Amino acid sequence: MRYLMTALMTCGLFLNGIRAEDKPAPAAKTWTLGMSQCNLGEPWRVQMNADIKKATEAHPELNVIYKDAQNDTLKQVSQIEEFIAAGVDVIIVSPKEAAPLTPPVAAAFEKGIPVIVLDRKVLGDKFTCFIGADNKKIGLAAGRWIAKTLGGKGNVVELMGLMTSTPGQDRNSGFREGIKGSAIKIVFDAEMKWLEPDARKEMESALARSDSIQLVYAHNDPGAHGAWLAAKAAGREKDMLFVGIDALPQEGRAYVKQGILAASFEYPTGGREAIDTALKLLKKETVEKSITLRSRVFTPATIDKDGEWLE
Ligand code: FRU
Repeated sequence: MRYLMTALMTCGLFLNGIRAEDKPAPAAKTWTLGMSQCNLGEPWRVQMNADIKKATEAHPELNVIYKDAQNDTLKQVSQIEEFIAAGVDVIIVSPKEAAPLTPPVAAAFEKGIPVIVLDRKVLGDKFTCFIGADNKKIGLAAGRWIAKTLGGKGNVVELMGLMTSTPGQDRNSGFREGIKGSAIKIVFDAEMKWLEPDARKEMESALARSDSIQLVYAHNDPGAHGAWLAAKAAGREKDMLFVGIDALPQEGRAYVKQGILAASFEYPTGGREAIDTALKLLKKETVEKSITLRSRVFTPATIDKDGEWLE
C-alpha cells in the first residue's frame, strides 16, 4: 500500500512538473480580420486569398475569417453586415460592384471598424484605405502598346469587364485615351463581366460580324483567353493578336509563353499589402488613404526577363 501511495505521489509530482513546464504563456492578444472576397471562381481571386494566407503565416496573432460572396452583390453586402455585427477588428473587402457595396463599407467605417478596400473601389471616401494598382494607367499603357504594335491602325475588339466595377471603367477609359490620335477602329465592344465563357460568346459575335480583326483587347486574361478559344474554333486565331490583363504566372504569363497572348499587363492582388496595412492599423499606426501598386507588362520579348515596369 505504502509503495502504491509513493508511486502515485511521485507520478502526481511528475505530472505537476510537466504541467508547470507546459503552462501556456499568458494568452497573446489575437485579432480577427473579416475578409469578403467577391468570388473564388477566377484564378486571380484564389491567388489573392492565397497571398493573404501566406502573409498571415508569420502572424499567429491574426485570425482571418474568409467569406466568398460567389459573385452575388447582395450576399457580399450581408457579409459586411455580419462582420460589423460580429465586431471584427478589421474588414478587408474586394467588392464586386462599387455602388451597392458603398453603404455597408461606410457603415463599418462610421462604427470605427477599419476597412481596407482591395482591388475594386467603392464610391466616396468612407473607408480606411484603398489598395490596388492604377487601372487607368494600365488601360492607357495597353492602348499605347496596342497603337504602337499595330502601327497606328487596325480593327480592334474590346471585351470589357463588369462596367459597374471601377477596374472595368478605368481599363476602358484609359485604353480609349491611349489609342487617341491613332487610326485604330473599335469594330466591336461588349461586356464579358470578367468571365471566360462570356468572352468566348461575345467573341463569336464579333467574328461573325467582322472578317477583319487585327487585335482583341480584353480587360482580363480569362477574357483574352476566351476570345482566343472562339477565334481558334473559327480557324482565325492566327489572323489577330490577343492582349489581356492580370499576368498571373500560372495564367496570363503562361499564355504569353505559349504564344496565345501578345501581351499581358500585371494586376497585382494586393493580398500581402492588405495584411501589412491591417497590422499597422491594429497597432494604431497611420496608413495612407490610398496605396497604389506597380504593374509590369509581359510580352514574348520580356517574359523571361520578368517583364517591363510601367512608367
Ligand atoms: C477577377 C478579376 C480579375 C481582374 C479583377 C478586376 O475577378 O476579374 O481578372 O483583374 O477581377 O477587379
